[in-house]
Amino acid sequence: EYPEYVKVVEVGPRDGLQNEKEMVPTGVKIQLIDMLSETGLPVIEATSFVSSKWVPQMADHTEVLQGIHRASHVRYPVLTPNMQGFNAAIAAGATEVAVFVSASETFSLKNINCSIDGSLLRYKEVIYAANQQQIPVRGYVSCALGCPYEGPTEPTKVAEVVRRLYELGCYEVSLGDTIGVGTPGSMANMLRSVMENVPGSALAVHCHDTYGQALANILTALQMGVCVLDSSVAGLGGCPYARGATGNVSTEDVLYMLHGIGIKTGVDISKVIEAGDFICKALNCKTNSKVARAREAS
Ligand code: HMG
Ligand code: MG
Repeated sequence: EYPEYVKVVEVGPRDGLQNEKEMVPTGVKIQLIDMLSETGLPVIEATSFVSSKWVPQMADHTEVLQGIHRASHVRYPVLTPNMQGFNAAIAAGATEVAVFVSASETFSLKNINCSIDGSLLRYKEVIYAANQQQIPVRGYVSCALGCPYEGPTEPTKVAEVVRRLYELGCYEVSLGDTIGVGTPGSMANMLRSVMENVPGSALAVHCHDTYGQALANILTALQMGVCVLDSSVAGLGGCPYARGATGNVSTEDVLYMLHGIGIKTGVDISKVIEAGDFICKALNCKTNSKVARAREAS
């Protein structure tokens, strides 16, 4: 049994672009988000309020958030690693934020210079402040299937971190296969463990396609009741603190599969392909979406 409707969360403007070596002009980022806003996507992660010393590509977060034309039916969450980022995001006009924890201690230290416990303490404060202002908070758990430093992640460890984030008040927790090493086997094991603690309706999966397993892993998650999927237009991206990690699964390919199954998304795949075409031309790169390539060739 598949869900009737799946919510697709577009993370390309943030996860996709954060790893680009060449500085992407702010105007290009804004045009990309504006094009994506016209596709029917319900959520577009716009940027992140992290340190520009750590991730220079996201230094224009305020200009991006203030430059886009916000569509009334679209939500535009932004990443906030601490109170400083949260306050800057709110000052820039953010109406939804996302916090990110790791299931791996080493990755946590490399990514946010802080232990897992330390980061949850920081996020407690962020989530409290957000609740005061009726700002919804999404949560991420990185390395849910494996860590570039520690190898495979114990499902019980993931379940524990997800539970803690959920109890702090995240309305949804996205399970990140940061380096794309998962398979349908490890995805199913991890989800079974997580679902003992947190309802499936509060979960999303966030697959990077490094090993070509993303669609298979997503299908597994759908079959287990997950109905929120993160993806990136043209399969852009990677993570600056996960060497060798490639982009997220492409939004185009996810939509093609979902629509083929008969699942509704409300998203116009042709318009997403156009947005992908735009950003690939701007970055002078080839799309990672097989669907976009096939459409181009036909
Ligand atoms: P830190 O150096 O430990 O921070 O960085 P600090 O509190 O010691 O402050 C040091 C300096 O940073 C100070 O400036 C602060 O003002 C500044 P200075 O006095 O030296 O001039 N600072 C900030 N500046 C701007 N915005 C802020 C901020 N906070 C402090 N929010 C910090 C800690 C968390 C800031 C840093 O490690 C950081 O920004 N990390 C971000 C890493 C990141 O963005 N990673 C990628 C996103 S996560 C991801 O991609 C995974 C995901 O896709 C899911 C998946 O695939 O698994 C979500
Ligand atoms: Mg990611």
